[in-house]
Amino acid sequence: MNHIAREDAFELLKKYNKDPFHIQHALTVEAVMKWYANELGYGDDAEYWGIVGLLHDIDFELYPAEHCLKAPELLREGGVSEDIIHGVCSHGYGITVECGETIDVKPEHEMEKVLFAADELTGLIWAAALMRPSKSTKDMELKSLKKKYKSKGFAAGCSREVIERGAKQLGWELEKLLTMTLQAMAATEDEIQAEVEVYSA
Ligand SMILES: [Fe+2]
Repeated sequence: MNHIAREDAFELLKKYNKDPFHIQHALTVEAVMKWYANELGYGDDAEYWGIVGLLHDIDFELYPAEHCLKAPELLREGGVSEDIIHGVCSHGYGITVECGETIDVKPEHEMEKVLFAADELTGLIWAAALMRPSKSTKDMELKSLKKKYKSKGFAAGCSREVIERGAKQLGWELEKLLTMTLQAMAATEDEIQAEVEVYSA
């Protein structure tokens, strides 16, 4: 299949997202998706998994009330193929967005299930990292992540219900999802930070 090139996907993302926090989140989910592709035996498709991760929240900054509903239009305009659009929209499956609509695009492919499961969790893990003296995931232990995960007041915007539904869709224990996503973020943190610095400069 002929997909949008990674650099074109990044340009498209930057057309609709200016907030460095959103850029960092997109780059994080891209890197985590690539890590998972390699880990789960989809190494040949790693860049493709990454592009879906990079673009998944493309409509969130400008159209938060229509998250996952506005995305197809923006992506089609940018020349993105329908399979990637399906992947992007499926990360909102079952979620009712602010405008009142519930996203009905179901994650089918394993790539889509991983995106659904890992997206919110990367937000929670990064919030936990920022509370550490190191401000890093690299020295974070699973035990301390679990503690933060269980603490309801912590990163309350990161829905545990969505994360747990994501693990279930994959047929994974929550522990496996936490372990692997923390590992993915620790392994890719330096490259992500380097890209964020280039963006912010
Ligand atoms: Fe996201």
